[in-house]
Amino acid sequence: MEHLLSLNDLSTEEIQDLLKLAEKLKKQNMEGVQHHLLKGRTLGMIFSKSSTRTRVSFEVGMYQLGGYPLFLSSNDIQLGRGETIYDTANVLSRYIDGIMIRTFKQSDVEDLARFGTIPVINGLTDEMHPCQILADLLTVYEHKGKLEGLKLAYIGDGNNVAHSLLHGCAKTGMDIAVASPKGYECTETYVDEAKAAAKTTGSEILMTQDPVEAIANADVIYADTWISMGQEDQKEEKLKIFMPYQINSRLFSKAKEDAIFLHCLPAYRGYEVTEEIIDGPQSVIFDEAENRLHAQKAVLATLLGK
Ligand code: CP
Ligand code: NVA
Repeated sequence: MEHLLSLNDLSTEEIQDLLKLAEKLKKQNMEGVQHHLLKGRTLGMIFSKSSTRTRVSFEVGMYQLGGYPLFLSSNDIQLGRGETIYDTANVLSRYIDGIMIRTFKQSDVEDLARFGTIPVINGLTDEMHPCQILADLLTVYEHKGKLEGLKLAYIGDGNNVAHSLLHGCAKTGMDIAVASPKGYECTETYVDEAKAAAKTTGSEILMTQDPVEAIANADVIYADTWISMGQEDQKEEKLKIFMPYQINSRLFSKAKEDAIFLHCLPAYRGYEVTEEIIDGPQSVIFDEAENRLHAQKAVLATLLGK
């Protein structure tokens, strides 16, 4: 594992190893055991979009590992004024030991990895959110004691989070059902990648427009915002189209009785999910947010610790 660009690049074993390491680091953290696995190492964190969880968990994670994180807003570095990815990758490779980037185009993240000589971690693009899904898998594992054989239902927009969930579930043997409105389905390439992985693990993949079909018998229910960063101008139109995909108690009742609710956050209560669900007893959203820290520390230790 040289980079974390897409979960599809990782084998089942690599994902399992990351989850095991995350569990171990989390336990040590709770016991107050220091683990300075990245003493003297530096991580540049480029942000072209807003963030609460990704920024704070990477920054704190790097500190807890004994390293040093640099926050680089794309408004402040020359990348935002048109300096090329090629030059940015080459220059940063001379100063720091790794880059985490949150941006729009997946191809920019891939180019950064291709042109530079240091590990690159995808902190969200329009197409992928691999770090989020590692934290989600850890959360499901903690609450359910296994991944293989469980069913996750994702209800909503077929973009970044859904794509990485398809990869993550297919690679770990979880069944996944994705329900999205017409015109907002997942990109076929990523569905095909997940189906290819599922052939080995035995996961079942269902793509549908029907939220009731998707949620039936699910162990894990997952929502994301309907208005992703950079799509604010589509808000009015999308709110109408997505309303039948709201996760409320009526829809939730079709899942297994002990189903848990996940949301990558930020959440918009009253749109993609109602308060009674997201703030209810089956919601594990804050465990999930916390696990960003532990899962990403495992990624950092694995990539930058060599
Ligand atoms: N879930 C997530 O990536 O949150 P932030 O946008 O706050 O980083
Ligand atoms: N789909 C959302 C995820 C936020 C973590 C977005 O891209 O804004």
